[in-house]
Amino acid sequence: MYHSVVWDEPLLKELEEIKKEKYILMSVLPESLQRKTIIDIPDLDETQVMRHFFHLSQMNYGIESGFYPLGSCTMKYNPKICEEISRWEQFALLNPYQDESTTQGTLRMMYELEQMLCEITGMDHFTLQPAAGAQGEFTGLLIARAYHESNKDAARDEVILPDTSHGTNPASAAMAGYKVIEIPSTKEGTVDLEMLKKALSDKTACFMLTNPNTLGIFESEIIEVARLVHEAGALLYYDGANMNAIMGKARPGDMGFDIVHLNLHKTFSTPHGGGGPGSGPVGVKQKLERFLPVPWIVKKQDTYCFDYAHPDSIGKIKSTYGNVSVALKAYIYILLMGGNGLKEASEIAVLNANYMKKKLVDSKLYQLPYRELRKHEFVLSCEHLLSTKGIRALDVGKRLLDYGLHPPTVYFPHIVKEAMMIEPTESESKKTLDIYIDTLLKIAQEDPSLVKSAPQNTVVQRIDEIGAVKNPILTWKNLDKTKE
Ligand SMILES: Cc1ncc(COP(=O)(O)O)c(C=O)c1O
Repeated sequence: MYHSVVWDEPLLKELEEIKKEKYILMSVLPESLQRKTIIDIPDLDETQVMRHFFHLSQMNYGIESGFYPLGSCTMKYNPKICEEISRWEQFALLNPYQDESTTQGTLRMMYELEQMLCEITGMDHFTLQPAAGAQGEFTGLLIARAYHESNKDAARDEVILPDTSHGTNPASAAMAGYKVIEIPSTKEGTVDLEMLKKALSDKTACFMLTNPNTLGIFESEIIEVARLVHEAGALLYYDGANMNAIMGKARPGDMGFDIVHLNLHKTFSTPHGGGGPGSGPVGVKQKLERFLPVPWIVKKQDTYCFDYAHPDSIGKIKSTYGNVSVALKAYIYILLMGGNGLKEASEIAVLNANYMKKKLVDSKLYQLPYRELRKHEFVLSCEHLLSTKGIRALDVGKRLLDYGLHPPTVYFPHIVKEAMMIEPTESESKKTLDIYIDTLLKIAQEDPSLVKSAPQNTVVQRIDEIGAVKNPILTWKNLDKTKE
């Protein structure tokens, strides 16, 4: 606790000493290095600085502040106990280069988490190394390449994906050196089997898919998709970022997927967003096991250790062993929830999404393209609002801010015009969902000029989002210049 300073005699003396030291230092510095003008930095006391930063922190929005239905992002409640345990010094102060004999608990946790993820997804072996979903995709695609090369089938240089796929899918495929082939979806919003058949060839390395897809629709033809892909000699890749919809209900391994990545930082108790840390473990079927990154975590009798003896491995993907604290949170979360708890979480996530969807669609103010039944998220279109009132999805999102609510994802997936993608998750009450629904309905009936000029009640109004990314202003000096 700080009290206001009393400038008594000893303190003044001390200050004099400090000044003297400063002058001595100045005198030993060569003239050329000495400052000629007074340094131009803000002159603020500790209280002001504290209030400034506290105020800034309040301008931020997180799941702790309110409902965050950002479709495709699974912004759900992350139990605080997972956060707390992951900060225990027994875990947080470990050094990755410590002798294995001193880190048995953490190694056991990682080993057991891999087993749990195998059980949840129906895969045979997992690595915890990748630090994000996108890095998981990249890892999975390198594994696919290693597999085809080992089969003397290296000419396979194409990755197929549907037009609903998340942007990281084509990006990862391109980064891994593949040609990206996009196929259009059916009118139902699912994989078009005819298009898939046409695209598959002896050049196909992999078909990447998320199920449920980014429209929130379960790919009910998945068994046939898997059959076609395998018949063509290719592999089936599962983007598990939407796992929150099907935990305990269906397993990608049983659907025929060969490679899976999960976003622990969505489904398994780590906040998503803000740049990390994240974790995108990759699971594979037995035939791909030998290509997994090293080291593996193995158990020899009662001892856990790292195992590097895998000559066919794609090598190392991330420094040391991945983001272990994120893995730890997932481990605690899975133990806390248990199998039935995970299943129930998915059931409620799906229920919440379908409740919201029904109320919004019944209003006829927003439209639902493609198939009716959704899983954990749904995508509405604001096309009708645009044609009748000139209101776009972006305007609705901005207007929500005036009501203190976070907007949904907009303009994704690209195949839906004026898309608004809502993912309520399992951790929200009916009351919260009702408030959001009522607000969306209200906005659709408001004066268009009000909606199009929103937000009015926020610190900043409409920002140049592209400019903000391309030319970020991150210091007070630059900020000042923009005012000049
Ligand atoms: C469907 C889907 N796939 C992949 C990713 C990529 O995950 P990450 O952001 O961890 O790289 C996301 C992220 O939002 C996603 O929604």
